[in-house]
Amino acid sequence: MAGAIIDGKASAARLRERVGAEAKAFEAAHGVRPGLKVIIVGDNPASRAYVRTKARMAEEAGLAGELIELPDTTTTEELLGHVERLNADPLTHGILVQLPLPKRIDEALVLDAVHPDKDVDGFHPLNVGRLFSAQKGLPEDLLVPCTPYGCLYMLKETLGADGLKGANAVIVGRSNIVGKPMAALLLSADCTVTVAHSRTKDLPSVCRGADILVAAVGRPRMVQGDWVKEGAVVIDVGINRVEGADGKGRIVGDVDFGPAAERAGAITPVPGGVGPMTVACLLRNTLVAARNLAGG
Ligand code: GUN
Repeated sequence: MAGAIIDGKASAARLRERVGAEAKAFEAAHGVRPGLKVIIVGDNPASRAYVRTKARMAEEAGLAGELIELPDTTTTEELLGHVERLNADPLTHGILVQLPLPKRIDEALVLDAVHPDKDVDGFHPLNVGRLFSAQKGLPEDLLVPCTPYGCLYMLKETLGADGLKGANAVIVGRSNIVGKPMAALLLSADCTVTVAHSRTKDLPSVCRGADILVAAVGRPRMVQGDWVKEGAVVIDVGINRVEGADGKGRIVGDVDFGPAAERAGAITPVPGGVGPMTVACLLRNTLVAARNLAGG
């Protein structure tokens, strides 16, 4: 039996609406809109498209969104200068530096320079530490990496918060952006968590043990239909551009969607699954940052 398709667009619209209403209340109380600055370096067309969407969605939700586009020749020092300026700007509550950065730039140095209170990506070591040391669920004021937060949000909507308790969750991929923070979030929701990766032995059978399967490897359709346990909830984080039989480019996930959907209880599509949720969570983080900076 084919599983339900999880509608990431609809989930994201609900979250954006909630954030929009709360942003309005923030503006009424403090006289400023929560402000998000998105920095992009270089001219990767896919990254440029993502950041434009981020800034536009912020504006549409009643936040102040601004895009700062820097040339490919930007140095680490120049980028650090922009970050420092925004750290000191009282109208900037959230700073996002789009990844990947050009190879020349010292990425760790730049991410560490973003003030932890304005770190709407949740990538600063202080926020990573807070996430991994959270003991009793997730603190409301925590800045959590957007993509895994979006995945958790959809899992809770699909299974209910109690549906995650004790579930076997397998994450394929151990990146700092998705895999590792996803593990912390699923632990905080009382899942039993396995983080699998390129060196994992017998990956298909590890995946077959999953009640919740999160694919975040960046390899088109790597997770096969028969890796999916009957009734499992499958979250596909992949955004891979492939060439179709007609020679045209199209976007596919890390999961072989058709066969996986036959076995899954519920599954996210690509596009229209995790992607829209990531942007909605960024807006949520900007609101949280603004509240934290304003003293709660
Ligand atoms: N590139 C791909 N995903 C992300 C993200 O969540 N944040 C940033 N800053 N860059 C990304």
